[in-house]
Amino acid sequence: MNNFSLNTPTKILFGKGQIANLGKEIPADARILITYGGGSIKKNGVLDQVLKALEGRPVFEFAGIEPNPSYETLMKAVEVVKAQKIDYLLAVGGGSVADGTKFIGAAARYTAGDPWDILLNRGAQVTSAVPMGCVLTLPATGSESNNGAVISRLATGDKLAFFSPYSYPTFAVLDPTVTYSLPARQVANGVVDAFVHTVEQYLTYPVQAKVQDRFSEGLLLTLIEEGPRALAEPENYDVRANVMWSATLALNGLIGAGVPQDWATHMLGHELTAMHGLDHAQTLAIVLPSLLAYKKEQKRAKLLQYAERVWHLRDGTEDQRIDGAINATRAFFEQMGVPTRLSGHGLDGSAIPAMIAKLKEHGCVALGEHGDITLEDSQRILEAAR
Ligand code: NZQ
Ligand code: ZN
Repeated sequence: MNNFSLNTPTKILFGKGQIANLGKEIPADARILITYGGGSIKKNGVLDQVLKALEGRPVFEFAGIEPNPSYETLMKAVEVVKAQKIDYLLAVGGGSVADGTKFIGAAARYTAGDPWDILLNRGAQVTSAVPMGCVLTLPATGSESNNGAVISRLATGDKLAFFSPYSYPTFAVLDPTVTYSLPARQVANGVVDAFVHTVEQYLTYPVQAKVQDRFSEGLLLTLIEEGPRALAEPENYDVRANVMWSATLALNGLIGAGVPQDWATHMLGHELTAMHGLDHAQTLAIVLPSLLAYKKEQKRAKLLQYAERVWHLRDGTEDQRIDGAINATRAFFEQMGVPTRLSGHGLDGSAIPAMIAKLKEHGCVALGEHGDITLEDSQRILEAAR
């Protein structure tokens, strides 16, 4: 096991009815800005629950944070934070709202220059942020209890991440009943995203990290079991609860502590979203099977473990078991209704050279757990995903 330091400071309020308890988590004298997306929280009653929990307190609202939140929109919220002297941000929504709010909080306190530099420097120059909490409505990204955010800039076609110790939400409310209203596409996206987060931290090479491996396998098995049920039985509380908690644990730092991490699928996926507007998870479902096949030799030992422990493939040659596990992964994504090829979205791959140019511009020239995925390799992985 590799050395690590782990800090997971976000307090979790889990379960039905927990939104009512969020008032206690926010400083009593805070001027609060509620941030949200396109309005799903108005339709499903979540905003009303939040406003009730904050009754009598100075509350402002900023709506309209879009999926794959844009710098352009978020900078408008920064103006509101400054004008209204906001000192606490409450993100109510999915990963896009949580991520966007992390950026708003950091940008409002950023004095070192143009706030876009936060993304160009991956968060290195962030020294403060307006504190935030989160009411999660879409289990997927883990953003509700981690310190990362991914922001898009429409003007330039960039989609970049930043990380900062100042960007952890202080608390997150996870009420599985608020996920009942999710459209099937977003349920599927969430399951695929959490699955791929786990794989990015698990399917690398062995370092005798048995706890992390078995936690990861537990999350993958749970997502395989409960993902299709979440589509078939949308109001099954236990199913929703297990999906929600899996997604948080997949990216709160726990399973990634002390192990090598890949993240190449995510880097290629972000370019696909920036280029074609595909949902985040849709890009991962396209890239991951292709990447696993391409990196089969480097990942051989863990692919065999994955085949045996997650897909119960014990017969046949090593190569047959590995191919079987990659095919099973692809079939699982397809079963969730998420296409695993570019052609599934009507794309022919003609934009691959432009995406490779963007990867180069973003310094993504040595990806993966070994840093051995060059631009040429990325091109082959994307081409094999057509
Ligand atoms: O905007 P509204 O009207 O709220 O609708 C949203 C949105 O259209 C809807 N939705 C959310 N909760 C709902 C609901 N509809 C009905 N009922 C509910 N309970 O779902 C749509 C998608 O929401 P979004 O927040 O965009 O989805 P997701 O949570 O998948 O977030 C994706 C973003 O997170 C980033 C991605 O790159 C992408 O920008 N990621 C963030 C990560 C992190 N911070 O650690 C890691 C991830 O790998 C990922 O990159
Ligand atoms: Zn992701």
